[in-house]
Amino acid sequence: MIKKTMAVLVGAAMLSTFSVFAEPAKSAKQAKGATEYRQALLTLVKSNVGALGAMNKGVIPFNAETLQTNALRIEQLSLMLEDYFATDTSGFNIETAALDKIWSSQSDFNDKISALTAAAVNLNKVAKAGDESQFKPAIGQVFKSCKGCHDKYKAD
Ligand code: HEC
Repeated sequence: MIKKTMAVLVGAAMLSTFSVFAEPAKSAKQAKGATEYRQALLTLVKSNVGALGAMNKGVIPFNAETLQTNALRIEQLSLMLEDYFATDTSGFNIETAALDKIWSSQSDFNDKISALTAAAVNLNKVAKAGDESQFKPAIGQVFKSCKGCHDKYKAD
């Protein structure tokens, strides 16, 4: 009884310590679905950076509230990326810009995800503090983290 409880506890601890392991898609249908979901997630990410880019270029004035809202959303969406990339679709001929090496370089790929999370957390913090001189570098860091991953893992 005690042994069994321990085993369950250890199992649970391992699950929370080690991140998601990639699993190959089992069918073309599953690969296509997984691709659509991850693209939808990244489309949502994109929908939250438009305002950031416009503020960065001075097209619209800085708005600390919008920055906080969007930074929080980007953070939350970034936390879903690992899960949504956990299905390895490289074995199927589907329309995707995701490069196969994502699934052979998982820890590096996950580092790129973490860079986005960290940049979003920082932007939220900076926006809360309200010092406008810090807004641009914090926004820049978010865009840098997109590029950091796209350059390596996304086809043009
Ligand atoms: C950890 C890696 C990674 C990070 C970080 C990342 N992306 Fe991507 N992104 C990808 C990959 C891989 C694809 C290709 C997905 C596919 O086609 O299956 C992609 C695709 C996209 C797409 C196209 C979605 C579609 O409908 O096909 C957009 C838009 C996008 N990313 C925006 C962003 C923005 C904006 C950021 C930063 C705020 C960002 N991404 C950060 C890896 C990343």
